[in-house]
Amino acid sequence: MKTLRIGFVFLAAASLMLLAGGTAEAFHSGGVAECGGCHSMHTPKAGGYSLLIGSDPSSTCLSCHMHAGDTGPSSYHIATADADMPVGVAPLQRTPGGDFGWLRKTYTITVRGTTTTEWGQTHGHNIVAVDTVFAADTDNTTSPGGTFPGSQMSCTSCHDPHGRVRRNSTGYATGAALGGKADPIIASGSYNNSPIPAAGQAVGAYRLLRGLNDASVPGVVFQGVGIAIAPSSYNRTEATTMTRVAYGATGINTWGNWCASCHQDMHSSGNYVHPVDQSLGTNVANVYNAYVASGDFTGVAASSFTSLVPFAENTGDIATLQAHAKNDNSYMNGPGTSDKVTCLSCHRAHASGWPEALRWNMEGEFMVYNSLWPGTDTTPTVPQFARGRLGAETQAAYYDRPVTQFASYQRVLCNKCHAKD
Ligand code: HEC
Ligand code: HEC
Ligand code: HEC
Ligand code: HEC
Ligand code: HEC
Ligand code: HEC
Repeated sequence: MKTLRIGFVFLAAASLMLLAGGTAEAFHSGGVAECGGCHSMHTPKAGGYSLLIGSDPSSTCLSCHMHAGDTGPSSYHIATADADMPVGVAPLQRTPGGDFGWLRKTYTITVRGTTTTEWGQTHGHNIVAVDTVFAADTDNTTSPGGTFPGSQMSCTSCHDPHGRVRRNSTGYATGAALGGKADPIIASGSYNNSPIPAAGQAVGAYRLLRGLNDASVPGVVFQGVGIAIAPSSYNRTEATTMTRVAYGATGINTWGNWCASCHQDMHSSGNYVHPVDQSLGTNVANVYNAYVASGDFTGVAASSFTSLVPFAENTGDIATLQAHAKNDNSYMNGPGTSDKVTCLSCHRAHASGWPEALRWNMEGEFMVYNSLWPGTDTTPTVPQFARGRLGAETQAAYYDRPVTQFASYQRVLCNKCHAKD
């Protein structure tokens, strides 16, 4: 088994090169990966949970998806080890889902003599991963708006470790059941360069996410599938160009429904919460397209997109989404009137630098102050905007964007759709 594991280290390194070359083929390849990457038949980790190589499912995933020694965004890594982000240094990964390392970042803020603490665990989904020190949320013991227990929260609560949901030439399907058939998965279906499956073939569902009434995680039945396409290189600084995931929505297959699998009452249908999966309509779409920054309303639709406030396109057409998933700013169109506001317009799926895994800081009225990213080291220091961080940490939470993309006194990004500033 030892040799097998070494084989995987090579495999992971090789896949990095393949991804850089644009071929997203490697370990999972859109479906169930080589069993030995996660299971060990005779020498599983103590405790023997499903013969896994880690103490629990998430630790098993993080044995590859987190790597001590990272110095910057690194391909499929979605968490930064504590040693690589000492006090004053932000987590390093810049994926659309976000770096779970933010859950380990607690900040203390002293405003007019009163000290408050912004706990790391408020920054996103607290996966339980014993080997890598991630623990359940002590505050939200169940999913707000639902009943899913935080103590059970794992990578495999959302992702199917065996990646059985697939997209074939006509739509989405689960794996074969006894006596039935399913088209075999040929590759990942997550990318703008993923193959289009021919008849009799399939590619993996976006990000190996659970879906199609998957009820194998106790306490949750997944509604529909989450539709999206990412550019093939997606874990990267957004200092010069944005990483645009093209989210889709069609029928029951919306991100609002998918997230509402565990957060039923956070969905707007029948509830007094912010609209979700709802068309932007003429007014909001026009505002989005014209809004550049606080006080600057001179934008045009062809260049109005920002990955800090994405929307779901009103389509499930993969070719369309593949043409829109870019990381070189070559497609920057804003929304049409039938495109949707969805959970992922405001939240990241894993974690972010801000409370509630939000894409921007909602804890104060200014995102940018005096033409600077607020920090304890910037002048004038405004503690309630700096929130215990250095200016560089604030910039990192915005995926390294230059402050010049915004107004000198920029207000929160709700305004991208509502222009109340
Ligand atoms: C990416 C990691 C990963 C890979 C690769 C993987 N598994 Fe698993 N497997 C898991 C995890 C995690 C569980 C525990 C169940 C859970 O928490 O979702 C599991 C559970 C199981 C179980 C017991 C529970 C069940 O669902 O029946 C079996 C059997 C199994 N895996 C077989 C396989 C086989 C066979 C392969 C290779 C074809 C494989 N696994 C590849 C991660 C993986
Ligand atoms: C042996 C190393 C290894 C382990 C263990 C591992 N992964 Fe991965 N994972 C990779 C590599 C390499 C990639 C990029 C290439 C690929 O997608 O096959 C990847 C990609 C992914 C992707 C993106 C795939 C896509 O098609 O969009 C997801 C999601 C993912 N892993 C989730 C998991 C989860 C959840 C677990 C644990 C159940 C896990 N991984 C365990 C190595 C690993
Ligand atoms: C609450 C559900 C949820 C949990 C828990 C979760 N993921 Fe994800 N993950 C998602 C979603 C949704 C996306 C797609 C995000 C996007 O494109 O905006 C994603 C994306 C990813 C990606 C692609 C890179 C990225 O961040 O966009 C990888 C790799 C991945 N997840 C691995 C993991 C691993 C490993 C774990 C556990 C440590 C995990 N996920 C836990 C829902 C989840
Ligand atoms: C498998 C169940 C599950 C799914 C699916 C899920 N969540 Fe959660 N979510 C939880 C649980 C449990 C908590 C409470 C524990 C925690 O905060 O870590 C939570 C907490 C949250 C929080 C509060 C975070 C905090 O730190 O206070 C937000 C925001 C959130 N979820 C958004 C989403 C979004 C957006 C999606 C869809 C991309 C989603 N969730 C999908 C189970 C889920
Ligand atoms: C328009 C932006 C926006 C959208 C869309 C949105 N949220 Fe939120 N969400 C927020 C903000 C802001 C907060 C912070 C607390 C508050 O204002 O309620 C929050 C808080 C949360 C919390 C934490 C609540 C708590 O009690 O701790 C959860 C869970 C959550 N959202 C899930 C979701 C899910 C699931 C969806 C989609 C069905 C969604 N949100 C859609 C902006 C949004
Ligand atoms: C991606 C676009 C988008 C973003 C970002 C957004 N909203 Fe909205 N919001 C909408 C749409 C669409 C509606 C419904 C149509 C309308 O009222 O014009 C709406 C409606 C509202 C309403 C009226 C609710 C009702 O039921 O009438 C309020 C209040 C609101 N939003 C506040 C916020 C706040 C606060 C934020 C930031 C946390 C925010 N919105 C971010 C798109 C957005």
